[in-house]
Amino acid sequence: MKIIVVGTGFVGLPHAAVMAEYGHEVYAYDIDQKRIDAYKSGEAAQIERYVNEPGLVSAIHETKDRYLFFTSDISDVADGTDIFFFCLNTPPNRDGSTDLSYYSNAAHTVATLLAKRQDKKRVVLVNKSTVPVGTARLLQNIMNEHGVENFGVASNPEFLAQGNAIEGSRKPDRVVVGADTEEDFQILRRVYAQFVNHVRIRYLETTPETAESIKYVANNLLLTYISFWNGVGARIAETFPNVRMEDLKIGVTADTRISTWGSYVSNGAGGSCFGKDIQSMIYQLNQAGRRTDLLQAVYNINEYQKTYLIDRAVHEAGFSFNQKSVALLGLAFKKRTNDMRDSASLKAVESLLAKGVREIRAYDPLAEEAARTYWFNPEKNHLFERINYFDSAKEAIKGSDAVYISTDWEEFRGLSHTINTTVKPPYLVIDGRRMIPDYQTLVERGYDFLPVGGMFLAGKR
Ligand code: UDX
Repeated sequence: MKIIVVGTGFVGLPHAAVMAEYGHEVYAYDIDQKRIDAYKSGEAAQIERYVNEPGLVSAIHETKDRYLFFTSDISDVADGTDIFFFCLNTPPNRDGSTDLSYYSNAAHTVATLLAKRQDKKRVVLVNKSTVPVGTARLLQNIMNEHGVENFGVASNPEFLAQGNAIEGSRKPDRVVVGADTEEDFQILRRVYAQFVNHVRIRYLETTPETAESIKYVANNLLLTYISFWNGVGARIAETFPNVRMEDLKIGVTADTRISTWGSYVSNGAGGSCFGKDIQSMIYQLNQAGRRTDLLQAVYNINEYQKTYLIDRAVHEAGFSFNQKSVALLGLAFKKRTNDMRDSASLKAVESLLAKGVREIRAYDPLAEEAARTYWFNPEKNHLFERINYFDSAKEAIKGSDAVYISTDWEEFRGLSHTINTTVKPPYLVIDGRRMIPDYQTLVERGYDFLPVGGMFLAGKR
């Protein structure tokens, strides 16, 4: 099949590479020439500046210039294409609705080309990005506006988690295809031939609107699990003495009806999807006059969680942040990524600055550059000048009055040793990720310990 992937970010680039691995002729198209040049160079460092996913560079090397081609101009290659996959940024607007401007610009570009094409064979236009329910019809209208003939629209959402894009594309849990006609389903079956009738992968054919909804319901449910554990399981263990968080999880999730995923309690879930998708679903349903109490609660619990431990430090540990120096460990929204979008650390920094800290001593093994860009604008808020960056957890902790663990980087598991050898009590350890299994030794030595999913423990003095 001849495929054009429109948009080569986190979704589009891995998808293009994996489609090429299966022997399709794939054109990865982006209006950003710098990106295209970086991908064309084949150099790992260049590619990873834009998309950093395990296995991506080797997948590109295996297929580049044989099955996989990069271009910022599709006017010459559009003819004869069977499928366009739209993999564009769909960021949130302030009111929670979805900004479809990148998406619709790309759709107009493609429509202009398709209206002029020589061959009139069937072409299917497929949405892979998360788009509001009904967006396939918007695509259809754009094509009709331009007089495109013999086309179909489809929704084929991606369910990838960051850090697992290549493996997840090669072996997805399910492939969901929403289309209108048997002809279009057949074309998509040829694209995904390796997944149709697979013993383990569910291949579901449905309507475009159902496919669009599946993506929202899945992401909203995943965030509901996390908010449930943060807002109920963790709360109980933080409130009643002698409740052990890990045992609580094991005891509850032993029931095969109950998911284990989401039971990892934290200082709130971030990333490019969960917050955006729940706000968009709330907006879409509210626009239709529906109540969205549960979604609203899930969203609020997650947002509250991002600063909750800092409030607990004040109320339970009696810690005043005013004029204090706080080490902030982890800036990315989860381990193994440099992505700061919607990260819990953003809200933590705002809260710490509002509480008058003298200095934030930040460390993240990957996300420092992203963070510096994010907080660069001192004119906007001169308080951001109070953030300093360090090359290790030890350096960040040196001379601080408290440490706040915000990201679950594995290296933080050894932190009790670093704390012991770097700072003296009185000192407050705030663990937003339950990263310190041997916290008792810290408490024995006089350090105060405040974890998510556990009661405050005053250091023995
Ligand atoms: C998520 C979904 O998992 C994926 O299916 C969807 O397509 C896109 O959004 P991603 O954003 O990459 O993927 O991250 P994920 O690994 O799901 O984690 C999201 C956030 O939740 C992170 O901040 C993570 O640390 C947090 N999390 C996750 C928890 O706090 N507890 C958990 O049990 C699981």
